[in-house]
Amino acid sequence: LKCWAVVPAAGVGKRMQADRPKQYLPLAGKTVIEHTLNRLLQSGAFQAVAVAISLEDPYWPELDVSKHPNVITAPGGKERADSVLSALKSLQGQAAEDDWVLVHDAARPCLTASDIHLQIETLKNDAVGGILALSSHDTLKHVDGDTITATIDRKHVWRALTPQMFKYGMLRDALQQTEGNPAVTDEASALELLGFQPKIVEGRPDNIKITRPEDLALAQFYMEQQT
Ligand code: C5P
Repeated sequence: LKCWAVVPAAGVGKRMQADRPKQYLPLAGKTVIEHTLNRLLQSGAFQAVAVAISLEDPYWPELDVSKHPNVITAPGGKERADSVLSALKSLQGQAAEDDWVLVHDAARPCLTASDIHLQIETLKNDAVGGILALSSHDTLKHVDGDTITATIDRKHVWRALTPQMFKYGMLRDALQQTEGNPAVTDEASALELLGFQPKIVEGRPDNIKITRPEDLALAQFYMEQQT
């Protein structure tokens, strides 16, 4: 069983209203992306980590982790899916078609080794793969404009997190075949469009994505709780 990690890190993070992409903001003595990559590297689960970085990114080469022997850099793309495909292609010749790839957002620095190992153990014999996900505690409404049209049975609705774990060859082909399709907002959606049915593995609620300014304080709080 061989696993590789892919980290899309080529986004600009407009919603943060910061002077730099969110993966380079400071968090508990490091940058966000250093926490994310350290957690993947220290889990011991991966042959290597392929990171998609924007070609104009001046911050990445300054980080020690960019020179780590198990870190491979690939050029980022226009959309997240393009960045993931680029990182997958950088593993060509090293990764076998049936090896597993876990795609994880650079902006999720609180991922635990326990969640990585739980996901791999749960899905390693699956034919397709699957994603970490969270159930919804709030009641969910289907809305048209500002008007509620239905209440959705929440036991059928899960929030997609990362990592998203798929076979190397299957994921590459799915992203290639769905290239440019705006419905592809994560890896699972690319496989779903081709008729596959990925699984969910219940993840931890502290695996948050840094999106808004207050998320940095929340991530710091979760990290303190984890140690
Ligand atoms: O913006 P959002 O939070 O959805 O981004 C999720 C992840 O995808 C981030 O780690 C971001 O850096 C990455 N991304 C990328 N290439 C893009 C857009 C986003 O690697 N073109």
